[in-house]
Amino acid sequence: MKKFFLIVALFLVGLVTAQKLQSPDGKFVMNFSVQSGGYPSYQLNYKGKEIIKPSRLGFELTTKDAQANDPRNFLNNNFEVVGSKTATFDETWQPVWGEEKNIRNHYNEILISLKQKGTDRLVDIRFRLFDDGLGFRYEFPQQNNLVYFTIKEEKTQFAMTGDHTAYWIPGDYDTQEYNYTTSKLSEIRGLMTKSYEKGNVSQTSFSPTGVQTSLMMKTKDGVYINLHEAALIDYSCMHLNLDDKNMVFESWLTPDSHGDKGKMQAPRHTPWRTIIVSDDARNILASKMTYNLNDPSKITDTSWIKPTKYVGVWWEMISGKSSWAYTDEFPSVQLGLTDYAKAKPNGKHGANNANVRRYIDFAAKNGFDAVLVEGWNIGWEDWFGNDKDYVFDFVTPYPDFDIVALNAYAHSKGVKLIMHHETSGSIRNYERHMDAAYKLMNKYGYDAVKSGYVGNILPVGETHYSQWTNNHYQYAIEKAADYKIMVNAHEAVRPTGIARTYPNLIGNEAARGTEYQAFGGERNNPNHVTILPFTRLIGGPMDYTPGIFQMDVTNGSHVNATIANQLALYVTMYSPLQMAADFPENYEKFADAFQFIKDVAVDWDESKYLEAEPGQYITVARKAKGSDKWFVGNVAGYTPFTSKISLDFLDAGKQYIATIYSDAKDADYLKNTQAYNIRKVVVTKKSKLTQVSVAGGGYAVSIVPVKDKSETAGLKSL
Ligand code: NOJ
Ligand code: CA
Repeated sequence: MKKFFLIVALFLVGLVTAQKLQSPDGKFVMNFSVQSGGYPSYQLNYKGKEIIKPSRLGFELTTKDAQANDPRNFLNNNFEVVGSKTATFDETWQPVWGEEKNIRNHYNEILISLKQKGTDRLVDIRFRLFDDGLGFRYEFPQQNNLVYFTIKEEKTQFAMTGDHTAYWIPGDYDTQEYNYTTSKLSEIRGLMTKSYEKGNVSQTSFSPTGVQTSLMMKTKDGVYINLHEAALIDYSCMHLNLDDKNMVFESWLTPDSHGDKGKMQAPRHTPWRTIIVSDDARNILASKMTYNLNDPSKITDTSWIKPTKYVGVWWEMISGKSSWAYTDEFPSVQLGLTDYAKAKPNGKHGANNANVRRYIDFAAKNGFDAVLVEGWNIGWEDWFGNDKDYVFDFVTPYPDFDIVALNAYAHSKGVKLIMHHETSGSIRNYERHMDAAYKLMNKYGYDAVKSGYVGNILPVGETHYSQWTNNHYQYAIEKAADYKIMVNAHEAVRPTGIARTYPNLIGNEAARGTEYQAFGGERNNPNHVTILPFTRLIGGPMDYTPGIFQMDVTNGSHVNATIANQLALYVTMYSPLQMAADFPENYEKFADAFQFIKDVAVDWDESKYLEAEPGQYITVARKAKGSDKWFVGNVAGYTPFTSKISLDFLDAGKQYIATIYSDAKDADYLKNTQAYNIRKVVVTKKSKLTQVSVAGGGYAVSIVPVKDKSETAGLKSL
């Protein structure tokens, strides 16, 4: 009887503290409650189905001079609700660049104010429920009882309702450059060793069931769930650790060099934890929730931020044909002491005047905006593997790279050079030189920098995704904005929608890019590009560097793709920064296919996700910015895919010419990569296209309005 009363009493307490929030369309319901013991928790339903089971929220802290069980170490229990406030928000905003001209930010919000009994500490939790999912964050208001504090663990749970299929990469504090594994949640532990591909120069795993976000999942009744974070600023990057007995994920923050996971000072808030959900995979790709949870642009004059299509002195180094280094004579380089004037050139330095001019000419002739040049500055003879601090100065060119003349030549042809700052992970060294480096860029008219963080992070003990290092990436972006410089950071923390606030962040790598296809080791899986848009691209664009036409690479490696697949990536892998990564001579050899790369836009007014299934296929149509032209891309994974799309997105009463670049019947991503067909047909809004893509293949279409009837002469209708 006593027990019965206790249960009733607990139930009543639960009722008193329970709060419900609905999405604007009513399809999502989030329930917040404080469980017995004062544990804040939430639960999420979608279309009447439970998506997140009751899951706890809160923190464990490290408190100075406190024993392990000191109540001051626990910021997850003994809470009571002391207030709540609801709000509704609906606005449409225009991104500086993007997949859509207009983005709607529409949500219902509840702010729950909690007070911890005993310590009187205050924590607020803000929940925003959109039509595409839930975002929530912790907020620590100004108060006397919680000022400076150290996070030992963030204890945010995401309790799954079953043994879902997951598209995952191993948890790692230093890199996301992995192939994705598709498995049941219960299989993660068994597959971890195999999935943890070695070979990256900086890798730090932490748990046999640790995975990275953005994590994509699918339930057995066909609901797609994506877990990630938004607005990661002044906080450590969140991974997820799975309790695979109960199928509960818990946040696992990246520690600093002391093992602490967050240095906090109230007032402050955490990044948003995000759960995007739909029973249609296409809606996951179309979701703008991650951007919506970031602040509007802090850059007021954005006129200097320009979507960019570029080529570069790059693939030749990646594939081993040429070198970043100028000479083979220096096993050791010391800035200010090593004298390059006397060094013998090694004869294969890629960033030499003649070669850079060749790329500038090629860019100008084919309408590219810019040329990336890597290996232009001294230091590459001795740049990684030794935790070297003073590694590059970012301002001194090699003797055969005439920075003045090359920039003048490029500008005379309407082309910009893209700067390259490889930091070799020595972030303090980069900060030492940053002003001088950005000033140099301003002086010569560079408006974009590709930065890189290969190797272990210096100062020693920090990792790529710790709070301290994340603050560096943010500093670099904000400082670049002061100099009106666009940033494309490689090996930095994966994006979380920050480009809404700092639209000069036009690209990131933070995943396994095309470069792995030329390293000679484990290649990218043929279905890699059918997963990335569901995972890595949720937080922002990727500099994937597509457009490889010659799949057999100099050093014996092979790119797992067909040419038609490589063309489709310009549409399926959204980015305002797109490279045509292959050599000019390979494009000249396949000039008819190259035409698509020349034509395709890099900025869009509208995007339509037509077909999608993670790991299997993606078909997207996009309308070019300020134009009537449309481009369609499809990529297929391990199995061939028959795409069936309607062109009903076209304007009524208009005729268009569609140029379709598709896999030939016998195309094969391993043995017959260059077999493609190109056909031109007349299409209208009523047209339907059925097109087969081979495994690892795809198709690309450009659709241009007919201006004069004569253009259609001799063409069939679709
Ligand atoms: C790795 C980057 O991903 C790659 O693009 C770059 O060329 C090298 N680092 C050298 O900086
Ligand atoms: Ca990389």
